[in-house]
Amino acid sequence: MALKQHLDYKVRYNQQVENSAAYVLPFIEKTMPLGKGKTVLEVGTGEGGVLVPFMEKGSICVGVDLASERIDIANEMLEKDVKEGKVEFLCQNIYDEAFTSRFKNYFDVIILKDVIEHVYEQEKFIPYLKTLLKPGGQIFFGFPPWYMPFGGHQQVCHTKWASRIPYYHILPRPLHKAILRMSGEDEAVIKDQMEIKDTQITIERFERIIKQSGLKVLNKQHYLINPIYQFKFGLTPRKQWAPLTWIPFLRNFVTTCVYYTVG
Ligand SMILES: C[S@@+](CC[C@H](N)C(=O)[O-])C[C@H]1O[C@@H](n2cnc3c(N)ncnc32)[C@H](O)[C@@H]1O
Repeated sequence: MALKQHLDYKVRYNQQVENSAAYVLPFIEKTMPLGKGKTVLEVGTGEGGVLVPFMEKGSICVGVDLASERIDIANEMLEKDVKEGKVEFLCQNIYDEAFTSRFKNYFDVIILKDVIEHVYEQEKFIPYLKTLLKPGGQIFFGFPPWYMPFGGHQQVCHTKWASRIPYYHILPRPLHKAILRMSGEDEAVIKDQMEIKDTQITIERFERIIKQSGLKVLNKQHYLINPIYQFKFGLTPRKQWAPLTWIPFLRNFVTTCVYYTVG
């Protein structure tokens, strides 16, 4: 069943702003002082709301996304700030020559919030992000691990039970597809769900790619209850119980979100 943020972009934008101000920015500030003149890129910016608290601190922000309709909304929501040169929104592939040459070694901070689990070839993508960082720059990742109860992004399903039943996304592909078809989901939703299945990311694989990319984990926080659920569902965010975060594989099933800064 579609949630109100899926139907109303203003709701989605406000949730991005609130979650970023309360959780994303304070988390990044633990390892990187933010403020006037810092350069911040958000990859997969959507409606651009995550960047607002960074802009308010005086950072110069760039948001990039492959979805032109979402970039149009970001430009509409932040029209005044765009005109004043505080933020720029681009509908571009970050591998494009124009993007690479303009932003090589340019950013103090790169943000990927709820994005890395949608990206193909993460082993190539994450080292590439490094080339856009200034020396000493840092990258923030926030994502739901694949094996968490709703790691298949069930929330985008239109039917009630397909959006509320946990864990069926980890069934083999034909069974997963059959469940979606039986519940009456349309082909576009099924295609989206199969894409997430292709790009799925676990805590272990993420940490392995970070290491292979020559990056170090500077800070991490695993959550039993994702901070964004406060704004989406009125739930109180909960950090994961520390001993559970030490148990490889199992921890993925009970951790709805992880935050990392790497550099
Ligand atoms: C779930 S939304 C997250 C939006 C926003 N960051 C937030 O936290 O609400 C994921 C966004 O990532 C974008 N995206 C996926 N792969 C991308 C890529 N390779 N480059 C840029 N954007 C990408 C999608 O178009 C989508 O807007």
